[in-house]
Amino acid sequence: MKMLIFGATGRVGQVLSHAAGEAGWELLTPSRGQCNLLHPTEVADYVLNSDAAAVVNCAAMARLEECEDEALNAHLVNAVSPAHMALACRHTGARFIHLSTDYVLEGKRPGLKDETTRCKPVNTYGMSKLEGECEVAETNDEALILRVSWVCGNPQRPGFVESSLQRALDGAPLAAVADQYSLPTHARDIARVILNMTPLNVTGVWHLTSTGEPVSRLRCVQIALEHAVTLGVLRETPPVDAQRLREVKFFRALRPVHTAMDNRKLQELGVIMPGVEECIRRAVENFFGHCA
Ligand SMILES: NC(=O)c1ccc[n+]([C@@H]2O[C@H](COP(=O)([O-])OP(=O)(O)OC[C@H]3O[C@@H](n4cnc5c(N)ncnc54)[C@H](OP(=O)(O)O)[C@@H]3O)[C@@H](O)[C@H]2O)c1
Repeated sequence: MKMLIFGATGRVGQVLSHAAGEAGWELLTPSRGQCNLLHPTEVADYVLNSDAAAVVNCAAMARLEECEDEALNAHLVNAVSPAHMALACRHTGARFIHLSTDYVLEGKRPGLKDETTRCKPVNTYGMSKLEGECEVAETNDEALILRVSWVCGNPQRPGFVESSLQRALDGAPLAAVADQYSLPTHARDIARVILNMTPLNVTGVWHLTSTGEPVSRLRCVQIALEHAVTLGVLRETPPVDAQRLREVKFFRALRPVHTAMDNRKLQELGVIMPGVEECIRRAVENFFGHCA
């Protein structure tokens, strides 16, 4: 059976493509050059002609500053094209799975948010992703929407955990945001859950993240460095400068502060998600395995 994966070169898409291939799926992984999400009708045609039994959308315009600067493109890539995928899947009968983000949440209040929490994004990226969720769900009521957060675990497409490990290895100064809270999600867990949920009759929005209480980016980096010491790759944990969100000069787009998601609905389905520390420890092991 054929699985069509959009965004197969991305942090999640690479890991999903590998896992889906191992699981026996025949893969169709169009590059941006072969199917550009800036052109939604071409995206719909691609799905209609693909003969895919499952379509997974891992593609997104995910850089926050770029979304602020190019809001129309963010709208096309993150909302209009996913809606066209959903519509095409409704016609072909293919299973459609769309990835979204904790940044659809406003994040004003601390604590875990479940799928019923009202969404109110604070930036263009979050708005375009929320619009994508709504359009996908309205267009195809059998679609599955998985919200993930702070993705780690793909050394070839480093996130903030991997970048910090690399800086520590290089002996470069380290800094991490101490006043933003969420939960990390390991890319391999995302791939595992997608493959497990593809044949299930489950639809709508699901929170897919590690299990635990909200953590700051700073704490995630500290857990990673501590584990690198345990593994013997670093001699000691280097100091990490605690930054405030509003001090990071590069950040022009607003960031939501408290977006940690409650994954209880997923766990009640029987899906086991690792705790925060285990999630990060595995990302560290993947990173050093990759370096070796
Ligand atoms: N990374 C995170 O921490 C995080 C957190 C929350 C939610 N998410 C969500 O998780 C999903 C996967 O994110 P990711 O981190 O894997 O993203 P990523 O690493 O930035 O990859 C994005 C993918 O989308 C493709 N893409 C972007 N614009 C395109 C266009 N116009 N036409 C065709 N393809 C295009 C990219 O192709 P190129 O290789 O050609 O650029 C790449 O394959 C997204 O829905 C994202 O919103 C991610």
